[in-house]
Amino acid sequence: MNRGRTMRGAVGGTALGVGLLGAVLMSRPAAWAEEATTVPRGPHGAATMDYQQQALAKILPKSDVTQAPPGFDPVVWAAFIPEDNAMTPQRVELGRKLYFDTRLSKDGTVSCATCHDVTRGFTDQLKTSEGIKDQIGQRNAPTVLNTALLQTLFLDGRSPTLDHQAKLPIVNPIEMGMPDGDAAVKAISGDAEYQKAFKEAYGRDVNYEDIGRAIGAFERTLVFLDSPLRRFLQGDTNAISAEAKAGWDLFNGKARCVTCHQMNLSNPLGTDNRFHNVGVSARHQDFEGLGSKALKLLKEDPSEQKLDELALGTPMSELGRFMVTKNRVDMGSFRTSILLNVAITPPYMHDGSLPTLWDVMDHYNKGGEPNPFLDGGMEPLALTEEEINQLVAFMFTLTDDRFAAENERQLQAQRAAANASRKFRDDEMAFRRKLAFEDRLKGDKGKNK
Ligand code: HEC
Ligand code: HEC
Repeated sequence: MNRGRTMRGAVGGTALGVGLLGAVLMSRPAAWAEEATTVPRGPHGAATMDYQQQALAKILPKSDVTQAPPGFDPVVWAAFIPEDNAMTPQRVELGRKLYFDTRLSKDGTVSCATCHDVTRGFTDQLKTSEGIKDQIGQRNAPTVLNTALLQTLFLDGRSPTLDHQAKLPIVNPIEMGMPDGDAAVKAISGDAEYQKAFKEAYGRDVNYEDIGRAIGAFERTLVFLDSPLRRFLQGDTNAISAEAKAGWDLFNGKARCVTCHQMNLSNPLGTDNRFHNVGVSARHQDFEGLGSKALKLLKEDPSEQKLDELALGTPMSELGRFMVTKNRVDMGSFRTSILLNVAITPPYMHDGSLPTLWDVMDHYNKGGEPNPFLDGGMEPLALTEEEINQLVAFMFTLTDDRFAAENERQLQAQRAAANASRKFRDDEMAFRRKLAFEDRLKGDKGKNK
C-alpha cells in the first residue's frame, strides 16, 4: 500500500506545503550532537550560551525571514504571524540575542536557552525544569521547535501567542525571577547595542512588550519539520524501516493514537491542539481538593502571573487545563503533545514522569492511569511487545534530519534504560485481565499523597 500517495492526494492544496522541504536542508547531522558528552556546560547543566549559539548557526540556514519557510503555503504561514509583529531580519536577530541572554534573569544564570537548550532538542531533557537559585518547577519543559504552528501555548494553553508567552518566564519567580517587566527592561537598556537594535526593529526604546515580540519573531524561525516520516508521506517508500511502517499503521489503527495526535502532511505536528486527561496526573493527585484550593486562590488574585506561578510552582500544576477554564471536565487535562521531534526531548509528559518512549507505550497500553476525568478515548490497547517496538520505531522517524545524530544517541540511551527498567508496564491491564475500576476503587483511597 502506498500511504504516502493517498495522503498527499487527500490534503491537496491546503497543506502547509509539500515536496520542497527535503531538497532544501542538505546539511546532515551536526558534529555537536555526536559529542553530547563533551559539550561545555554552564549553570543548571545547560550547554554554554556561546556553544549553543554556534550550534544554532550550524543548523539554522540563512533565509529570508520575511518569506514563508521553504515548502510552506504563504497564505497558511501568514496566519501564524501576529498583525503587530511582521517578520523582519532586525526583529529576528534581536529576538535571537534575547533568547540567549542570561541578563534577563534575576541572578544572571538563566536564559530561555537554559531550559530550551539547542543541543537538547530545545528542551532541558530534565524531568522538570530548574530555574534561578536551583529551584525545581512542577512541569517538564516542552520544546520550542515548531511552536510557531501551535494554536495555544503552554501545556494548559494559558497563553495565546509566542509574543505573549515569552514575557511570562522572565517574571516567574522560579524561572528567571525578575520582579516585573520594568526590571527586565532595566537589566538590558543600558546596553548601547540593545538600544540601537530595539530602535531598528520596532522604532522604540527598549520595552517589555517588544522583548516578547522579538523573541516570538525569533521562535517563528525554528520550523524543523524535515523528518524521515515526512519524506515517507511524500512518497519515498524507503524513507523509514519496515518496523516503523508497521508502527505507523498501528498509530492510525489498533493503537488509536491518531484520534488525538492527528498527523499528516498538512498537519505535521501530530497534535489536535485540544486538551485531554490521559491519566498522567492521576498518578499523583486528588483533583477535587486541589481544584477547590486553586479556585480560591485564583479568585483572590485572577492575574495571569498568579496562574503562571500556580501552574509551575505548586502541586496545583496537575489540574492542567482546569485552572484556565475552571471547567470540571478539564481536570487533569493537558494539550496533546507535539510528536514531531519527540524522540530527542525525553523525559515525557507534563510532569516528565515517563523516562523513555517505551514507558510512554506502557502507559497507553494499559489505558492510562484510571481516574474519574480520564478521556473517553483512553482504553487498554492489548499491544504485544513487538507492536510496542514498532510504535517506538515509528516515533524515532519523527526527528528532523538536522538532529539525526542526537536521535540515534537517544535511541541507544532510551533502549538501554527501557531494558533496565520499565516501571509503567502492566500487562494485566493492557490485556484486560484486570479492569480499570478495580484499581480506581483502591486508588481513590491509596494514591493521594
Ligand atoms: C526554568 C526553565 C525555563 C525557562 C528559563 C524558560 N522556560 Fe519556557 N518552558 C518551561 C516549562 C517548564 C514550560 C511548560 C510550562 C507550562 O506548560 O505550564 C515552558 C513552556 C514554554 C513554551 C510553550 C511550549 C508549548 O508547547 O506550548 C514556550 C514557547 C517557551 N517555554 C519559550 C520560552 C522562552 C521564549 C523563554 C525565555 C523568555 C523561556 N521559555 C524560558 C521552562 C522554561
Ligand atoms: C485521548 C487523546 C490521546 C491519545 C489517544 C493518545 N495521546 Fe499521546 N498525548 C495526549 C496528551 C493530552 C498528551 C500530554 C499529556 C500530559 O502531558 O500529561 C500526550 C502525550 C504524548 C507523548 C509525550 C510527548 C512529550 O513530549 O512529552 C507521547 C510520546 C505520546 N503522547 C504518544 C502517543 C501514542 C504513541 C499514542 C497511541 C498509543 C497516543 N499518544 C495516544 C493525548 C493522547
